[in-house]
Amino acid sequence: MVKIKTKIIKIESLNIDMSKLKEAGQAIREGKIVAFPTETVYGLGADALNEEAIKKIFLAKDRPLYDPLIVHINCLEDAMDLVEELPPIARKLGQMFWPGPLTMVMKKSKKISDIVTSGLDTVAIRVPGHPVAQALIREAKKPIVAPSANLFTHVSPTNAQHVIDDLKGKVDIIIDSGETTVGVESTVVDVTELPLKILRLGGTTLESIKKITSKIIIANENEAVQKSPGMLKKHYAPKARLILAEGKNEIMVKNILTAASEYKKEGNKVGIIASKENSDRFSDFLVKIIGNADDLETCAHNLYAQLRLLDEQRCDIIISENFEDKGMGRAIMDRLRRASN
Ligand code: TXA
Ligand code: MG
Repeated sequence: MVKIKTKIIKIESLNIDMSKLKEAGQAIREGKIVAFPTETVYGLGADALNEEAIKKIFLAKDRPLYDPLIVHINCLEDAMDLVEELPPIARKLGQMFWPGPLTMVMKKSKKISDIVTSGLDTVAIRVPGHPVAQALIREAKKPIVAPSANLFTHVSPTNAQHVIDDLKGKVDIIIDSGETTVGVESTVVDVTELPLKILRLGGTTLESIKKITSKIIIANENEAVQKSPGMLKKHYAPKARLILAEGKNEIMVKNILTAASEYKKEGNKVGIIASKENSDRFSDFLVKIIGNADDLETCAHNLYAQLRLLDEQRCDIIISENFEDKGMGRAIMDRLRRASN
């Protein structure tokens, strides 16, 4: 691929410089591709109605065309044009969770081209909560398709440096607005039929959706891949081999220590993803703390950055603690399981 010049633009989230933002919005309108922050992870955006621009995203990420994209809009009403119908439950969830880390899959309208949906008759839509993302969509005056701004299958970016590491020379603009808050991708829910199906666990918890409707289940692996072709097993992975430790806390710590010593003896550089509580026990190895084990929001916020750091420090093997499979812990465990496959 020919290298292109990437312009890096710093924009403060809480004090948006509108002239810089206008430049980015203009670039989207001209068919360029722009990496921008959302509250979950950074996205790589293009005009959702411009097929040529969308192709550039697939090329830059080295992403196969069978993996459909999420369309980002400013508000629920903006979805009306893009879907055949807005099911009542989608309206309810939209009112409750948008703007925010929830993506809803609905029957697409004719406005959405096959390249966005990989030929599916549904489209994934989300209203991001990040002020820069909101402002960019408003300035572009277009819906914006945006996958996570990483190379295909790599760990999603939670700050601009991560995007630069993966995509500099491949995209037109990278907006740098510091760290994202949530740290894992949006929850993807198929709302075309009942019960609703979670195709990807993420930043909106199952528990919080259940407060609005009890008619929701987590799709099994086969179903998720069928409906959401991007949900490959090997995904969200660091370069190092990742091992997810088993067992409840004390047993888990012992399992990690045994395995880490073995791998180290064999000459491997071993990194460990740990909770604050257990981190002292792993001091013989390279330890990255992601948060207190009972503060799963903080753990989700830090996970990807710490995985990238262990890669940068050239670990051969990463062993991760397991986390509680509830609330945000579900998304953490989902990503760790996928990365360890
Ligand atoms: O938080 C996020 O969702 C981030 C930010 C940038 O918004 N975006 C993101 O996009 O994670 P991406 O492309 O990395 O993941 C999109 C997921 C994939 O698993 C894809 O299969 C699924 O959404 N998806 C997209 N369109 C779909 C559709 N029509 N039906 C089912 N799944 C779909
Ligand atoms: Mg992605």
